[in-house]
Amino acid sequence: MNTIELEVDVMFSNTIVQDYDMLKLICPLAVEMNRLVGQQVTAYPDSSESLAIVELGSGTGITTLSLLLAKNHAHIVSIDNQVSMQEVAQKNLQTWVDNKRLEFCHNDALSALQNMASDSIDIVASAYTLHNFFDNYRERVINEIFRVLKPTGRFINGDRYALDDINEHTRLTQQDASHFFKVLVAEHKFELLEQWIIHLFSDESENHIMREAIALAQLQNAGFIDIQLSHRLDVNALVTATKPK
Ligand SMILES: C[S@@+](CC[C@H](N)C(=O)[O-])C[C@H]1O[C@@H](n2cnc3c(N)ncnc32)[C@H](O)[C@@H]1O
Repeated sequence: MNTIELEVDVMFSNTIVQDYDMLKLICPLAVEMNRLVGQQVTAYPDSSESLAIVELGSGTGITTLSLLLAKNHAHIVSIDNQVSMQEVAQKNLQTWVDNKRLEFCHNDALSALQNMASDSIDIVASAYTLHNFFDNYRERVINEIFRVLKPTGRFINGDRYALDDINEHTRLTQQDASHFFKVLVAEHKFELLEQWIIHLFSDESENHIMREAIALAQLQNAGFIDIQLSHRLDVNALVTATKPK
């Protein structure tokens, strides 16, 4: 059991544990990506002031929790454009809201970033949100992330990064689809299975797919340096990039 799992088990008896367990079943590599995003945040140098972290896509709060546990002295603004998702995250993480470590922002990622001051954020972190964006919207979000980050600030994203080798990517996606059927049919979760398969079509569509080479080029074009795809786990990968001094 890793640290996040352990702490989640100890600290919660509510829905986040169920969400976490379900994600572990459906997409274990997504759980690992969330852990890696947290690990990258922990590795970010501390400063005398509280770190300002922006999270794109609160979801049910799984990544948010990983960020909260990664640094004791960070303030997180978690953005999501879906009220229903954010309400779940808010319920799951109310303790941190009460402790003023966490704030939720209901807005779309681009508009929320556009409302933030330049050079004001230490880390923009995310998991499994950017792949949902239309490609042109994603490019604008990346440019805004660059603008709001402080010099030396970091972008950290664990997500579906499609392989440049299209045949291999298709093979791995088919493998994912097979896995969804296997685990969700066994659990009799047919509606959830339908949702995952429908969502997969959107992920794979031409105007959404986040192809590795294009995604890394977008970061470079925005001005980022030290761009790394450090962990490739099937169709998932961890990408980090730094804003120069
Ligand atoms: C798949 S969930 C990931 C949640 C969490 N990071 C995790 O790994 O479990 C993606 C989240 O991004 C949100 N989202 C999608 N497009 C968005 C946008 N344009 N602006 C803000 N949030 C968005 C969705 O509402 C959803 O809650």
